[in-house]
Amino acid sequence: MSRVAYVNGAYMAQREASVNVEDRGYQFADGIYEVVHLYRGRMIDTGLHMDRLERSLREIRIAMPMTRPALLHVMAEVARRNRVAEGLLYMQVTRGVARREHVFPSHPIPPALVVTARRTPPFPRNLDAWATSAITHPDERWARCDIKSVALLPNVLAKQAARERGASEAILIDRDGMVTEGGSTSVWIVDAEGTLRTRPLGHAILPGCTRASLRALMEAEGIAMQETPFSEAELRAAREVFLTSATSFVRPVVAVDGAAVGDGRVGPVARRLFAMFSRHVQGGPANG
Ligand code: PDD
Repeated sequence: MSRVAYVNGAYMAQREASVNVEDRGYQFADGIYEVVHLYRGRMIDTGLHMDRLERSLREIRIAMPMTRPALLHVMAEVARRNRVAEGLLYMQVTRGVARREHVFPSHPIPPALVVTARRTPPFPRNLDAWATSAITHPDERWARCDIKSVALLPNVLAKQAARERGASEAILIDRDGMVTEGGSTSVWIVDAEGTLRTRPLGHAILPGCTRASLRALMEAEGIAMQETPFSEAELRAAREVFLTSATSFVRPVVAVDGAAVGDGRVGPVARRLFAMFSRHVQGGPANG
Protein backbone atom coordinates (compact mmCIF):
# COMPACT_ATOMS: atom_id res chain seq x y z
CA MET A 1 0.00 0.00 0.00
CA SER A 2 1.42 3.42 -0.87
CA ARG A 3 1.80 5.82 2.00
CA VAL A 4 -0.32 8.94 2.36
CA ALA A 5 0.98 12.28 3.63
CA TYR A 6 -0.87 15.40 4.66
CA VAL A 7 0.89 18.35 3.04
CA ASN A 8 -0.40 21.90 3.40
CA GLY A 9 -4.10 21.19 3.26
CA ALA A 10 -4.27 18.00 1.18
CA TYR A 11 -3.84 14.27 1.66
CA MET A 12 -1.71 12.87 -1.13
CA ALA A 13 0.41 9.90 -2.12
CA GLN A 14 3.61 10.43 -0.16
CA ARG A 15 5.88 9.57 -3.08
CA GLU A 16 4.26 12.38 -5.06
CA ALA A 17 4.23 14.89 -2.23
CA SER A 18 6.75 17.72 -2.31
CA VAL A 19 7.48 21.00 -0.65
CA ASN A 20 8.50 24.26 -2.24
CA VAL A 21 12.28 24.78 -2.62
CA GLU A 22 11.82 28.10 -0.83
CA ASP A 23 10.15 26.55 2.18
CA ARG A 24 12.02 28.10 5.10
CA GLY A 25 12.28 24.70 6.72
CA TYR A 26 14.35 23.54 3.76
CA GLN A 27 16.36 26.76 3.47
CA PHE A 28 16.99 27.60 7.12
CA ALA A 29 15.68 24.70 9.23
CA ASP A 30 13.19 27.37 10.31
CA GLY A 31 10.66 24.99 11.78
CA ILE A 32 9.83 22.48 14.48
CA TYR A 33 8.54 18.92 14.67
CA GLU A 34 6.89 16.33 16.88
CA VAL A 35 6.87 12.55 16.96
CA VAL A 36 3.92 10.76 18.58
CA HIS A 37 3.72 7.03 19.29
CA LEU A 38 0.66 5.20 18.01
CA TYR A 39 -0.36 2.05 19.85
CA ARG A 40 -3.30 0.09 18.48
CA GLY A 41 -4.62 3.24 16.86
CA ARG A 42 -4.28 5.31 20.04
CA MET A 43 -1.93 8.29 20.19
CA ILE A 44 0.15 8.13 23.36
CA ASP A 45 0.68 11.22 25.55
CA THR A 46 -1.00 13.39 22.94
CA GLY A 47 -1.73 16.28 25.30
CA LEU A 48 1.95 16.52 26.24
CA HIS A 49 3.05 16.46 22.59
CA MET A 50 0.51 19.10 21.60
CA ASP A 51 1.55 21.34 24.49
CA ARG A 52 5.19 21.01 23.43
CA LEU A 53 4.38 21.65 19.77
CA GLU A 54 2.59 24.86 20.71
CA ARG A 55 5.45 25.87 22.98
CA SER A 56 8.12 25.23 20.32
CA LEU A 57 6.11 27.30 17.85
CA ARG A 58 5.64 30.12 20.35
CA GLU A 59 9.36 30.21 21.11
CA ILE A 60 10.24 30.73 17.45
CA ARG A 61 7.19 32.90 16.70
CA ILE A 62 5.35 30.68 14.22
CA ALA A 63 1.57 30.53 14.48
CA MET A 64 -0.23 27.20 14.95
CA PRO A 65 -1.05 26.07 11.40
CA MET A 66 -4.56 25.15 12.56
CA THR A 67 -6.42 24.71 15.84
CA ARG A 68 -5.40 21.85 18.10
CA PRO A 69 -8.62 19.85 17.48
CA ALA A 70 -8.17 20.29 13.71
CA LEU A 71 -4.56 19.12 13.94
CA LEU A 72 -5.56 16.11 16.04
CA HIS A 73 -8.12 15.30 13.39
CA VAL A 74 -5.47 15.45 10.63
CA MET A 75 -3.15 13.24 12.69
CA ALA A 76 -5.87 10.63 13.24
CA GLU A 77 -6.79 10.80 9.57
CA VAL A 78 -3.17 10.28 8.45
CA ALA A 79 -2.89 7.27 10.77
CA ARG A 80 -6.17 5.88 9.42
CA ARG A 81 -5.36 6.44 5.76
CA ASN A 82 -1.99 4.72 6.20
CA ARG A 83 -3.61 1.93 8.19
CA VAL A 84 -1.01 2.40 10.88
CA ALA A 85 -2.24 0.93 14.13
CA GLU A 86 1.20 0.61 15.70
CA GLY A 87 3.84 3.08 14.65
CA LEU A 88 4.57 6.75 14.77
CA LEU A 89 3.12 10.02 13.59
CA TYR A 90 5.56 12.67 12.43
CA MET A 91 4.51 16.27 12.07
CA GLN A 92 6.53 19.24 11.02
CA VAL A 93 5.63 22.93 10.96
CA THR A 94 7.82 25.47 9.21
CA ARG A 95 7.50 29.23 8.87
CA GLY A 96 6.31 28.77 5.29
CA VAL A 97 7.44 29.71 1.80
CA ALA A 98 9.11 33.02 0.99
CA ARG A 99 11.98 34.41 -1.09
CA ARG A 100 15.20 33.47 0.65
CA GLU A 101 16.05 36.14 3.17
CA HIS A 102 17.14 35.43 6.72
CA VAL A 103 14.67 37.76 8.43
CA PHE A 104 11.03 36.76 8.80
CA PRO A 105 8.96 37.59 5.70
CA SER A 106 7.58 41.12 5.97
CA HIS A 107 4.14 40.02 4.81
CA PRO A 108 2.22 37.32 6.69
CA ILE A 109 2.65 33.83 5.20
CA PRO A 110 0.87 30.66 6.27
CA PRO A 111 3.02 28.14 8.15
CA ALA A 112 3.65 24.92 6.24
CA LEU A 113 2.41 21.68 7.80
CA VAL A 114 3.38 18.12 6.92
CA VAL A 115 2.04 15.04 8.74
CA THR A 116 3.16 11.49 7.95
CA ALA A 117 2.75 8.11 9.62
CA ARG A 118 4.67 4.90 9.51
CA ARG A 119 4.61 1.49 11.06
CA THR A 120 7.23 0.48 13.58
CA PRO A 121 8.08 -2.93 15.03
CA PRO A 122 5.58 -4.04 17.70
CA PHE A 123 5.90 -2.64 21.20
CA PRO A 124 8.76 -4.54 22.90
CA ARG A 125 7.72 -7.50 25.07
CA ASN A 126 11.20 -8.67 25.96
CA LEU A 127 13.11 -5.93 27.75
CA ASP A 128 16.43 -7.80 27.63
CA ALA A 129 16.19 -7.90 23.84
CA TRP A 130 15.11 -4.23 23.81
CA ALA A 131 18.20 -3.15 25.79
CA THR A 132 20.84 -1.36 23.76
CA SER A 133 24.27 0.22 23.93
CA ALA A 134 25.42 3.82 23.66
CA ILE A 135 28.53 5.86 23.12
CA THR A 136 29.41 9.22 24.62
CA HIS A 137 29.80 12.13 22.26
CA PRO A 138 30.42 15.88 22.67
CA ASP A 139 27.22 17.93 22.69
CA GLU A 140 27.80 20.26 19.74
CA ARG A 141 24.27 21.66 19.51
CA TRP A 142 22.94 25.19 19.86
CA ALA A 143 21.90 26.88 23.11
CA ARG A 144 18.11 26.29 22.84
CA CYS A 145 17.76 22.52 22.76
CA ASP A 146 14.44 22.90 24.62
CA ILE A 147 12.90 23.86 21.26
CA LYS A 148 12.13 20.82 19.10
CA SER A 149 13.79 22.36 16.06
CA VAL A 150 14.20 20.44 12.80
CA ALA A 151 17.85 21.59 12.78
CA LEU A 152 19.23 18.21 13.81
CA LEU A 153 22.64 18.09 12.15
CA PRO A 154 24.64 17.65 15.39
CA ASN A 155 22.18 14.93 16.46
CA VAL A 156 22.52 13.25 13.05
CA LEU A 157 26.31 13.24 13.27
CA ALA A 158 26.34 12.03 16.87
CA LYS A 159 23.91 9.20 16.14
CA GLN A 160 25.84 8.22 13.03
CA ALA A 161 29.01 8.03 15.15
CA ALA A 162 27.10 5.71 17.50
CA ARG A 163 25.98 3.54 14.58
CA GLU A 164 29.54 3.28 13.28
CA ARG A 165 30.65 2.06 16.68
CA GLY A 166 27.94 -0.56 16.90
CA ALA A 167 25.73 1.38 19.31
CA SER A 168 22.30 2.90 18.83
CA GLU A 169 22.46 6.10 20.83
CA ALA A 170 24.94 8.88 21.50
CA ILE A 171 24.85 10.26 25.03
CA LEU A 172 25.83 13.90 24.74
CA ILE A 173 28.36 15.49 27.07
CA ASP A 174 28.54 19.26 27.45
CA ARG A 175 31.70 21.35 27.82
CA ASP A 176 31.59 21.01 31.59
CA GLY A 177 31.66 17.23 31.36
CA MET A 178 27.96 16.93 32.25
CA VAL A 179 25.46 14.68 30.49
CA THR A 180 22.75 16.60 28.66
CA GLU A 181 20.63 13.98 26.84
CA GLY A 182 20.78 11.48 24.01
CA GLY A 183 20.82 12.29 20.30
CA SER A 184 17.07 11.61 20.28
CA THR A 185 16.29 10.52 23.83
CA SER A 186 16.23 11.66 27.46
CA VAL A 187 18.91 10.00 29.61
CA TRP A 188 18.41 8.65 33.13
CA ILE A 189 20.76 6.91 35.55
CA VAL A 190 20.56 5.01 38.78
CA ASP A 191 23.73 6.39 40.30
CA ALA A 192 26.34 4.49 42.32
CA GLU A 193 24.35 5.27 45.50
CA GLY A 194 21.13 3.95 43.99
CA THR A 195 19.43 7.29 43.30
CA LEU A 196 17.34 7.59 40.16
CA ARG A 197 18.35 10.80 38.38
CA THR A 198 17.80 12.77 35.24
CA ARG A 199 18.98 16.23 34.30
CA PRO A 200 16.67 19.13 35.26
CA LEU A 201 14.83 20.86 32.43
CA GLY A 202 16.38 23.98 30.95
CA HIS A 203 17.64 25.28 27.65
CA ALA A 204 20.20 22.45 27.31
CA ILE A 205 17.69 19.63 26.79
CA LEU A 206 14.36 18.86 25.18
CA PRO A 207 11.54 18.52 27.72
CA GLY A 208 10.76 14.90 26.86
CA CYS A 209 7.09 13.94 26.83
CA THR A 210 7.93 10.35 27.76
CA ARG A 211 10.01 11.67 30.64
CA ALA A 212 7.08 13.82 31.82
CA SER A 213 4.64 10.95 31.44
CA LEU A 214 6.94 8.56 33.30
CA ARG A 215 7.46 11.11 36.08
CA ALA A 216 3.72 11.39 36.59
CA LEU A 217 3.41 7.59 36.76
CA MET A 218 6.31 7.45 39.23
CA GLU A 219 4.73 10.09 41.41
CA ALA A 220 1.48 8.14 41.48
CA GLU A 221 3.41 5.02 42.57
CA GLY A 222 5.58 6.87 45.08
CA ILE A 223 8.86 6.17 43.26
CA ALA A 224 11.48 8.73 44.21
CA MET A 225 13.70 10.45 41.64
CA GLN A 226 15.95 13.46 41.55
CA GLU A 227 16.34 16.08 38.88
CA THR A 228 20.01 16.83 39.31
CA PRO A 229 22.69 17.17 36.65
CA PHE A 230 25.14 14.28 36.47
CA SER A 231 28.60 14.04 34.99
CA GLU A 232 30.17 11.73 32.46
CA ALA A 233 32.07 10.11 35.35
CA GLU A 234 28.78 9.48 37.19
CA LEU A 235 27.33 8.02 34.01
CA ARG A 236 30.22 5.58 33.81
CA ALA A 237 29.88 4.66 37.49
CA ALA A 238 26.09 4.28 37.31
CA ARG A 239 24.37 1.03 38.30
CA GLU A 240 21.80 1.54 35.55
CA VAL A 241 21.42 3.78 32.53
CA PHE A 242 18.29 4.03 30.45
CA LEU A 243 16.75 6.18 27.75
CA THR A 244 13.22 7.45 27.22
CA SER A 245 11.47 8.79 24.12
CA ALA A 246 8.28 8.38 22.12
CA THR A 247 10.03 5.72 20.05
CA SER A 248 12.35 4.17 22.68
CA PHE A 249 9.75 4.06 25.50
CA VAL A 250 11.99 2.99 28.40
CA ARG A 251 15.13 1.49 26.90
CA PRO A 252 17.92 0.13 29.10
CA VAL A 253 21.52 0.87 28.11
CA VAL A 254 23.72 -2.06 29.10
CA ALA A 255 27.02 -0.74 27.71
CA VAL A 256 28.51 2.74 27.32
CA ASP A 257 31.56 3.11 25.09
CA GLY A 258 31.94 -0.66 25.11
CA ALA A 259 32.07 -0.92 28.92
CA ALA A 260 29.29 -2.74 30.79
CA VAL A 261 26.86 -0.64 32.82
CA GLY A 262 26.70 -2.28 36.26
CA ASP A 263 26.80 -6.02 35.68
CA GLY A 264 25.94 -5.54 32.01
CA ARG A 265 22.35 -6.69 32.44
CA VAL A 266 19.04 -4.84 32.56
CA GLY A 267 18.64 -3.44 36.08
CA PRO A 268 15.63 -3.64 38.40
CA VAL A 269 14.71 0.06 38.19
CA ALA A 270 14.57 0.11 34.39
CA ARG A 271 12.60 -3.12 34.51
CA ARG A 272 10.04 -1.69 36.90
CA LEU A 273 9.68 1.58 34.99
CA PHE A 274 9.38 -0.23 31.67
CA ALA A 275 6.57 -2.38 33.11
CA MET A 276 4.85 0.76 34.42
CA PHE A 277 5.18 2.58 31.13
CA SER A 278 3.98 -0.48 29.20
CA ARG A 279 0.79 -0.51 31.29
CA HIS A 280 0.36 3.19 30.49
CA VAL A 281 0.79 2.57 26.75
CA GLN A 282 -1.27 -0.58 26.59
CA GLY A 283 -4.05 0.25 28.96
CA GLY A 284 -4.06 4.00 29.45
CA PRO A 285 -7.03 6.24 28.73
CA ALA A 286 -7.82 6.88 25.07
CA ASN A 287 -5.47 9.48 23.65
CA GLY A 288 -4.22 10.21 27.16
N1 PDD B 1 13.10 12.41 19.72
N2 PDD B 1 15.71 14.52 23.48
C1 PDD B 1 15.83 14.67 22.15
C2 PDD B 1 16.99 15.43 21.60
C3 PDD B 1 14.86 14.14 21.28
O1 PDD B 1 14.96 14.30 19.96
C4 PDD B 1 13.78 13.41 21.85
C5 PDD B 1 12.70 12.82 20.98
C6 PDD B 1 13.72 13.26 23.25
C7 PDD B 1 12.60 12.52 23.92
O2 PDD B 1 11.39 13.22 23.80
P1 PDD B 1 9.99 12.45 23.79
O3 PDD B 1 9.96 11.63 25.03
O4 PDD B 1 8.99 13.52 23.82
O5 PDD B 1 9.96 11.60 22.54
C8 PDD B 1 14.71 13.83 24.03
C9 PDD B 1 12.12 11.98 18.76
C10 PDD B 1 11.46 10.68 19.13
C11 PDD B 1 12.76 11.97 17.37
O6 PDD B 1 13.49 12.91 17.12
O7 PDD B 1 12.51 11.06 16.60
